[in-house]
Amino acid sequence: MTTREQRKDDHIRLALGHPVTHSSFDAVQLVHRSIPAIKRSDISLETPLDSLSLNFPLYINAMTGGSKWAGEINEKLAIISRETDIAMAVGSMHAALKNSELIPTYRIIRERNPHGKVFANIGADVPLDLAARAVEMLNADALQIHINAPQEVVMPEGGRDFTDWLTNIEEIVRTIDVPVIVKEVGFGMSKETLEQLYGIGVKTVDVSGRGGTNFIHIENERRPKKDQSYLSEWGQTTPVSLLESQPFQQNMTILASGGIQSPLDAIKSIALGARAVGLSRAILTEVESNGLAAAIQFIETFKAHMIDIALILGAKNLDDLQQVPYVLSPELESWQRQRKLKERSK
Ligand SMILES: Cc1cc2nc3c(=O)[nH]c(=O)nc-3n(C[C@H](O)[C@H](O)[C@H](O)COP(=O)(O)O)c2cc1C
Repeated sequence: MTTREQRKDDHIRLALGHPVTHSSFDAVQLVHRSIPAIKRSDISLETPLDSLSLNFPLYINAMTGGSKWAGEINEKLAIISRETDIAMAVGSMHAALKNSELIPTYRIIRERNPHGKVFANIGADVPLDLAARAVEMLNADALQIHINAPQEVVMPEGGRDFTDWLTNIEEIVRTIDVPVIVKEVGFGMSKETLEQLYGIGVKTVDVSGRGGTNFIHIENERRPKKDQSYLSEWGQTTPVSLLESQPFQQNMTILASGGIQSPLDAIKSIALGARAVGLSRAILTEVESNGLAAAIQFIETFKAHMIDIALILGAKNLDDLQQVPYVLSPELESWQRQRKLKERSK
């Protein structure tokens, strides 16, 4: 097994073994309204998203591919996304771009879900020609580019030179003919990051904040001395990242992931401005602990409960959900004030 294959399996094992103990979404409360004045059948949460329109604002976010175990998980995730009609991203495709023997561990997704929405995934240092090859490999509907500097730094064999990321992303966004989603991997985004990305023409981002899968913890466990655990709270939570994104929500499509465990976390993300919500660890845990049928049921229930919450809130669609009033914890309110983030007008 190569280092890259071993790393992939380490990531899956360590992500599964690190339970999420509290929700960063507890810091946001939605305001109850006693007379919703709609019925359940009035609700449609279809999501316009660049040229890509999702049937539902939920997707399975990037995780695997590149090892035998990862390929088996991808097959199961593809069946879940097909059966529940939600989009799915693959994990970083570097392995397949470097070694064609590993292509089937990704392509299985298209084989199992030929008509579904699939997102390819590469790192910000992958050049345009390989980015195009990744999209073509899966006949992908969109391309995710992950940005993960803290992970690289803590990863023993990780990258240490990020000078080309912005110009490379710019070239890909300008040239490639599918929507590009620039995503974090669990460290969140700031308004400064969004300013940089907006400035080079990026239209869609996944803020992927802290609060769920923690790549400082995962990479630190892979270090011989395990000596960087003090960084484990690095980055912005998903609610904080969404507050940071509010000045950009008119001009960019903001997606949320990172620590989303319940349908309520998902609806809170939408109320804070996300157009769709990604699950990684929650669905990985479900499928690996309880099997395929249970994981399909988990997503069906998750979707139904999101609609239940929309019903209580009197929200017929995504735009209505984005108008739902909320109250922030003193910590979040302080962050908003110190960072001079303008409150979204409601
Ligand atoms: C096992 C595992 C592997 C991951 N691999 C990738 C990857 O290859 N590319 C990527 O963009 N994100 C990757 N991620 C990050 C997720 O897409 C997501 O941004 C992050 O896990 C936060 O979401 P969560 O808290 O729901 O897990 C991975 C996550 C997990 C759990």
